[in-house]
Amino acid sequence: MHESPFFMPPLELPQIMARTAELNFEMASERGIGTLLQVLAASKSAGRLLELGTGTGVSTAWLLSGMDQNSSLISIDTDPRVQTVARDLLGHDPRLTLLTEDAAAFLRDQPKHSFDLIFADAMPGKYECLDDALVLVKPGGFYVIDDLLPQPNWPAGHAEKVPSLLNRLSSNPQFHMAPMAWASGVAVLVRKSILGVPPRI
Ligand SMILES: C[S@@+](CC[C@H](N)C(=O)[O-])C[C@H]1O[C@@H](n2cnc3c(N)ncnc32)[C@H](O)[C@@H]1O
Repeated sequence: MHESPFFMPPLELPQIMARTAELNFEMASERGIGTLLQVLAASKSAGRLLELGTGTGVSTAWLLSGMDQNSSLISIDTDPRVQTVARDLLGHDPRLTLLTEDAAAFLRDQPKHSFDLIFADAMPGKYECLDDALVLVKPGGFYVIDDLLPQPNWPAGHAEKVPSLLNRLSSNPQFHMAPMAWASGVAVLVRKSILGVPPRI
């Protein structure tokens, strides 16, 4: 199967990609993770979504393209230079709130179980402050990460962090995890229902 002909990219994507290239921003998401985020976002009616690491807005656009009109998305980045692209091209969408601040501080201020989907695409909420992000996921909600397969832009020492992150996530009894060798390497986790799994008889 060749999957890419069936992707349904957001209308804004070509303009965002052009501005991303002008800025030499090399951390933008691939289309494969974009299409997955679109599908997961569409599963949450009136969902509250959170993105850690807006970048130039590539994954933001994919998330928005899947969300219904009653859903909302908060996307956070510390770098106004790249986030400006998202502000210019997606900022008109009333479902989107763009925050220019540290994601770690934001995570600590949120109520438990307050998001239906978190795409953790910055260090905070992934390799740092992981528990602060996981606690925000509602029962039945998704926690999504990518860049789990070796990437050319990884700094020295980063490769060793990936297996320990995956071990931590897979051993968390509150979540199911689906690791996938898809796009840059993806893991989708879902918080188990608070009712739990019935005992086997
Ligand atoms: C992998 S890129 C995000 C790519 C984007 N999600 C996309 O799909 O195109 C990671 C981003 O995290 C941002 N970042 C780094 N430290 C951060 C922090 N402490 N809080 C929020 N964002 C941070 C960087 O500025 C960078 O834009």
